[in-house]
Amino acid sequence: MTSIHQPSIIALSGVEKVYRTDKLETQALTNISVSIAAGEFVSIMGPSGSGKSTLLNILGLLDVPSRGSVTLHGKNVESFKDNELAAIRNQEIGFIFQSFHLVNDLRVVDNVEIPLLYRKGLSGSERRKMALEALDMVGLTSRTKHFPSQLSGGQQQRVAIARAIVGKPRLLLADEPTGNLDSKMGDEIMSILHTLNTTHHATIAMVTHDDRLAAATDRTIRVFDGSIVGNSVLSSTH
Ligand SMILES: Nc1ncnc2c1ncn2[C@@H]1O[C@H](COP(=O)(O)OP(=O)(O)OP(=O)(O)O)[C@@H](O)[C@H]1O
Ligand SMILES: [Mg+2]
Repeated sequence: MTSIHQPSIIALSGVEKVYRTDKLETQALTNISVSIAAGEFVSIMGPSGSGKSTLLNILGLLDVPSRGSVTLHGKNVESFKDNELAAIRNQEIGFIFQSFHLVNDLRVVDNVEIPLLYRKGLSGSERRKMALEALDMVGLTSRTKHFPSQLSGGQQQRVAIARAIVGKPRLLLADEPTGNLDSKMGDEIMSILHTLNTTHHATIAMVTHDDRLAAATDRTIRVFDGSIVGNSVLSSTH
């Protein structure tokens, strides 16, 4: 769903990221300015090591830039207190990773409930209801009592998506969500992301190496060596 005229949900301005260790300094991002509008489905592409995950982590407020500003709903995130930031991360942002990061000794439904444990004022039965709704959305109602190891890769990723969306975040960030999946399972995941974008109005930024998947998003941000080298609207036909 292209929403160019919507206000930006998140914007980076002049963002730099330098990783420093004892001996090494890596400039991961250089002067990145980019904004994502509410309702957009954006893909992020670029070679390995170009800074895509670093960019996504900063967009998801999981990491802070070394320089430059991050604005969420028009407000500089530096002005948020730590507890406000934690609440925003928990309530407004969902993350999906390439490796699913499920807790192996928890059943599927309990994995999905995890983000809700940090929410005040939700009873156990409300949490369960929300988790089952999220699992329904990704087509996994028949697997709620299974353990992650009893599921296929695609099913595990769908559990991870259910966990990312259970708290109804407005911004969904996905780092190569189909990277560990064959193309059929990858297509299923993409179709779920498209439904979340079009029917549930989630704003999505997704890192991918797959041109075909990127072409199905509203816009592709191309990263090379820590800089944005392209920012194009590719398609609006889905
Ligand atoms: N925690 C870290 N400490 C030091 N350097 C890091 C750290 N994380 C990333 N880097 C460096 O920053 C650069 C960008 O890394 P990043 O993970 O963002 O790349 P990427 O585009 O996601 O690559 P890939 O496609 O392989 O996942 C790389 O040169 C990487 O080595
Ligand atoms: Mg990466």
